[in-house]
Amino acid sequence: MKKILVVHHSASGGARAMVSAFLDGGRSAESVIVVARSAGVASANELQSADALVIATPENFGYMAGSVKEFFDRTFYACLADTTPLGGGSASMVAGRPYSVLVCAGSDGSGAMQSVDRIITGWRMRKVHPGVIARRIGGEAGSSRGGLRDHDLEACRELGQMFAEGLAMGAL
Ligand SMILES: Cc1cc2nc3c(=O)[nH]c(=O)nc-3n(C[C@H](O)[C@H](O)[C@H](O)COP(=O)(O)O)c2cc1C
Repeated sequence: MKKILVVHHSASGGARAMVSAFLDGGRSAESVIVVARSAGVASANELQSADALVIATPENFGYMAGSVKEFFDRTFYACLADTTPLGGGSASMVAGRPYSVLVCAGSDGSGAMQSVDRIITGWRMRKVHPGVIARRIGGEAGSSRGGLRDHDLEACRELGQMFAEGLAMGAL
């Protein structure tokens, strides 16, 4: 059984709706399970045992949410193995595995997307899809007003399907 780990945080429900849509699409392959874990409790072991990773975060102050950053703080070095007898060399335990990112924003979202990509570059995972940025209808930076557009949620659902079917076929 292949596993997709979705690490998420949502304060006002936007990113949560994106994760629900992703999970919905991810049910399309029987040989793949999608496990959603709150960023506050997701662990390095869970990441190491996953075949793919999806991060879902709001954009706060042009960056990922604090609890998602704290997830990376806790797990980043735990996912790098020391490869030299005297230390100092490291290799990523998750290198080459596929990942993507879901961002919920008031008006922008690019800062959150870039901040996640910059950290995951250090693990040398493969971004197999540019990800989805959903901006709240009528939203603005700092505002939690407005709903999400149907086509953004549909993009999350399609991404879940693409990940699940791609893993099931060995194509990701
Ligand atoms: C403290 C705070 C900072 C925010 N900063 C930004 C921002 O820099 N850019 C932006 O587009 N939206 C910003 N927003 C809006 C949120 O990204 C938006 O409300 C999003 O839907 C939150 O996701 P959530 O509903 O999953 O919590 C901010 C919201 C809060 C509460």
